[in-house]
Order: sequence, then C-alpha cells, then structure tokens
Amino acid sequence: MTEVIIAESEREAGAIYAKCVADLIERKPDCVLGLATGSSPLAAYQELARTITERGLDVSRVRGFSLDEYAGLDPKHPESYHSVIERTVVEPLGLDPQLVHVPNGDLATIEHAGKAYDAAIEAAGGIDVQILGIGTDGHIGFNEPGSSLASGTRIKTLTEQTRIDNARFFDGDIDQVPTHCITQGIGTIMKARHLVLLAFGDGKAEAIAETVEGGVSSFCPASALQLHPHATVIVDEQAAARL
Ligand code: GLP
Repeated sequence: MTEVIIAESEREAGAIYAKCVADLIERKPDCVLGLATGSSPLAAYQELARTITERGLDVSRVRGFSLDEYAGLDPKHPESYHSVIERTVVEPLGLDPQLVHVPNGDLATIEHAGKAYDAAIEAAGGIDVQILGIGTDGHIGFNEPGSSLASGTRIKTLTEQTRIDNARFFDGDIDQVPTHCITQGIGTIMKARHLVLLAFGDGKAEAIAETVEGGVSSFCPASALQLHPHATVIVDEQAAARL
C-alpha cells in the first residue's frame, strides 16, 4: 500500500522528509540513510540541513548509502555521483564523509562491486529511510524499464533517453555522458525499511500514475513500491495530475 501525499511545493515536500529523518536521527543517532542524486531530493536535503541545525541534532554517527554512480567516470569529476553527494548532502548536512558510501564505478572492479555494496548495506543493518526520485520512464536509481524487480546492485546500460536527460550536466553533450552505470537493484531498494519517493512537475505525472495505480511491472520499475510495506510518495499537484 503506497501512501500518497500531495504537497504545495517542493519545499513543503522536503519539510515532510526532513521531519521524518530528523525524528529518526533523534531516535537512532547511527541510523542509515539511503541517498539519491537528481534535482527532486534537493529541497529535501536543504530542509533537512535546516532542521538538523534548528534541533541541534548530532549527526556524527549517521551513515549513508547512495543509489548509483556512472561507470568509468573519475569520482573527482564534478558530475560524478560521488561529487554530487558530497556537495548536496555530506557538506550541507555536516555528515562524516567516511560514513557515506557511493557505489564504485571503477571499470577494473565494477563486476564485483555490486555484491560488495549490497553486503556493506547489510552489514550496516540495512537502510532505514531511502529517498528516491523517479525518471520520466519510471526508473528508480538507474533501474531502467525492464530491470528485474528482484535485482541487486549491478552494472547497467543507460538508455538513450536517460543519457539525453542527463546531458544537461555534461555541457549538453550526450557524448560526454557515460554509457553505463552501477546502481542499487530494485531488490536492494525494496529492502529499505521506509521508501520516500519525491516527484514534481507535469513531466512526472505519467510515471507517478503508473507507479501508484498501474500494474506492478518491470516496465515501470517504481511500481515495485506497491509491494513495499512502507512507501510514501510525495508529489506536487502537477505530478499528481493523472492520479
Ligand atoms: C537520474 C538518477 C535518478 C533520478 C532521476 C530523475 O537518472 N539516477 O536517481 O531519480 O535522474 O532526476 P530528477 O530528480 O532530476 O528529475
């Protein structure tokens, strides 16, 4: 059963996420956060940073695991997800960078990196709250349509559409966008104890309708959320338009 909340703005949606995570940090100071890149979670991270300061929370033991990374892109590249998570989450929230993990996209080791990543999540006791964005085609993480709903972290090929969508981060040049990635699988994501998916704008309306009201199918990877015992979808009016 998926809980759907229609928020007035990205900021209001972010504040709902921030309260949920701040309460968690208070209860469990070494909690494990599932992190995501993309524009959708940005307001949520800003609200969380503000709430942490306001409530004077100690985040020194908070741990994090991010969803995905481009394959073969230098982690120091400004658009690698290592850099993006550092810039948008670790620094503003004041987390210990040693405790925040991003999948390793190094081509030399990528074949085994997925299993190692899933094992590290399990060793940490699993993810408490996983934040998610959604692609216009219903992808979560980089699990493109057709991905197995039981998949673990692994290497995937990016679709042409996702590379076109993400070219804006690479000087608008699709040739600079990596062709492959490493992503938590849908099975990995489903193991998190609470999923919070954020989507804004009419470009996401179709994907949200499929996610919440369509059949559960690998053609809309996010529809797996219907099978999760605790999934919250927070959208604005535009993204909710087809519900
Ligand atoms: C990328 C990321 C996803 C993200 C999606 C949507 O493909 N790998 O995790 O959800 O983009 O991004 P945005 O939130 O910017 O629309």
